[in-house]
Amino acid sequence: MYYGDRIRLRAIEREDLPTFVRWFNDPEVRRFLLMYQPMSRASEERWFEGLQDQRDEHLFAIEASADGGWVHIGNCGLHQIDWKNRHAVLGIVIGEKAFWGKGYGTDAVRTMLRFAFHELNLHRVELEVFDYNPRAQRCYEKAGFRLEGTRRQALFRDGEYHDVHLMSVLRHEFAGARERR
Ligand SMILES: CC(C)(COP(=O)(O)OP(=O)(O)OC[C@H]1O[C@@H](n2cnc3c(N)ncnc32)[C@H](O)[C@@H]1OP(=O)(O)O)[C@@H](O)C(=O)NCCC(=O)NCCS
Repeated sequence: MYYGDRIRLRAIEREDLPTFVRWFNDPEVRRFLLMYQPMSRASEERWFEGLQDQRDEHLFAIEASADGGWVHIGNCGLHQIDWKNRHAVLGIVIGEKAFWGKGYGTDAVRTMLRFAFHELNLHRVELEVFDYNPRAQRCYEKAGFRLEGTRRQALFRDGEYHDVHLMSVLRHEFAGARERR
């Protein structure tokens, strides 16, 4: 377990898969993610099997402290870990929409970055975020990410092209972001 202020990160279990299928088939959640096709339980099972052998991925379930217990609200992970150059791509989804905009995402991203920099000894973490997702951009900024550039009209979604922003945070910038909290 890795603990943040109001969240904790735990391992993904096979029993979580039906919850993922529900989240990822919700158009309001999926519109912020790269995936665009309906997701089946079978494809999630195949993905889960493959996960066990992955060395360049670390994936966690996010649990929020609420009403005296822990609620599974989303997932976050480090992907495409490059061990030589010491960077990775961060991904996060809070699938339980009632938990959006309450600070849990920022807490989870900070906890993930602490794991990336202070456990895995990574140097840089990056991500891509769609231009119509200002909530995610703000969440990443609060955790220490900076805008690095924009891939103009790189995303075609719902009949229109959208810009995709590339953001990154270096290890020493993350230390600063925590002090400013
Ligand atoms: C993106 C996500 C992880 C953020 O987590 P969260 O818990 O909702 O975000 P937080 O509450 O920690 O922070 C959100 C910030 O954005 C701000 N915000 C919310 N809506 C906004 C908007 N429309 N414009 C600008 N800022 C906005 C909030 O006010 C808050 O900033 P503040 O603390 O300075 O007031 C979560 O909303 C989510 O999973 N969304 C669906 C999937 C997704 O977008 N994944 C990311 C793909 S790149």
